[in-house]
Amino acid sequence: MPFARDQWYVAAYSNEVGRELLARTVLGEPLVLYRTTAGTAVALADRCVHRRFPLSQSRLDGDRIVCGYHGFTYDETGSCVFVPGQQRIPRTARVAGYPVVEQDTLVWVWIGDAEPDPATVPRAPWLDDPGYTVVRGMAPLNARYSLLVDNLMDLSHETYLHGGYIGTPEVANTPITTTVDEEKGVVHVSRHMDDAECPPFYARSTGIQGRITRWQDIEYHPPCLYLLHSRIAPQGVYPPAEGPDSAAFHAEIVYAITPSTEHTTYDFWAVARDFAVDDESVSEYLYQSNHTVVMQDVTALNTLEQVIAAEPERYQELSINIDTGGLAARRLIERMIGAPTVGASR
Ligand code: FES
Ligand SMILES: [Fe+2]
Repeated sequence: MPFARDQWYVAAYSNEVGRELLARTVLGEPLVLYRTTAGTAVALADRCVHRRFPLSQSRLDGDRIVCGYHGFTYDETGSCVFVPGQQRIPRTARVAGYPVVEQDTLVWVWIGDAEPDPATVPRAPWLDDPGYTVVRGMAPLNARYSLLVDNLMDLSHETYLHGGYIGTPEVANTPITTTVDEEKGVVHVSRHMDDAECPPFYARSTGIQGRITRWQDIEYHPPCLYLLHSRIAPQGVYPPAEGPDSAAFHAEIVYAITPSTEHTTYDFWAVARDFAVDDESVSEYLYQSNHTVVMQDVTALNTLEQVIAAEPERYQELSINIDTGGLAARRLIERMIGAPTVGASR
């Protein structure tokens, strides 16, 4: 699948962008990210106009980048303000600057030529909410981003790929409901398990013993932001018709799916919870567990990428009920790209 341009993508976590130059490639475009002395996150094209030296391998001088090869110097807008050995700065001496919105501890960049609207950056407010404790990470994936979209839209794989961590038999056995908000361009996939085994991920973090009510409500804002609202409660405990759902434990699981190149992807993941918020041992356990789960996905998707890349141009997939959300996601992404919907994931 090609890329959806003229969209917002997560390039980094806020705490990754500082006074060190950070290189990230988004939709095949090499970027250098840093923070000005006033604290503003900046993203510029990571190639010096002179001889293409990566600016990310250069150095900061105040808010300016001094190219590490011959010293062309760029301000935070990408304009060249100094060239060596002459007074006159060529008119074309500038690198592209990318629109940046920093929100919910995520650094979003706009990739495309159209004028962006900062109000359209999708939200993940739990990542920056004092009522939640967050563990997070980023796994580089050697696979095309559409494989990660498929993976996250169909959680039935938890039972098979993540057994012993987050998977139990009920995940694969419980049917999903899928709806698409065509106007907002959001896919919703819900799986409500009213009597389920509690997987270690939640048993150890919540302290619940015995069976649970487990709800998974996915909200995918293509192309980049994936939210999984996870609700866990002792079996038989349901939210009241009104008032807070305080008898339950809530985890807001956030993924940002950022295509890096055609065959590589940044898999940003975070788990925000509203329980045991001060318990560091729970944080450590959830970090380690989710890291393991993400790496199980990474291993599987890296393998799939190799299999698909080695096969003939088109292959015929076989989709079933569990794929409804993934197929809806593909359709919305293809609508953004302006490409016709096709059955195969190439
Ligand atoms: S390549 Fe950057 S100054 Fe020459
Ligand atoms: Fe997974």
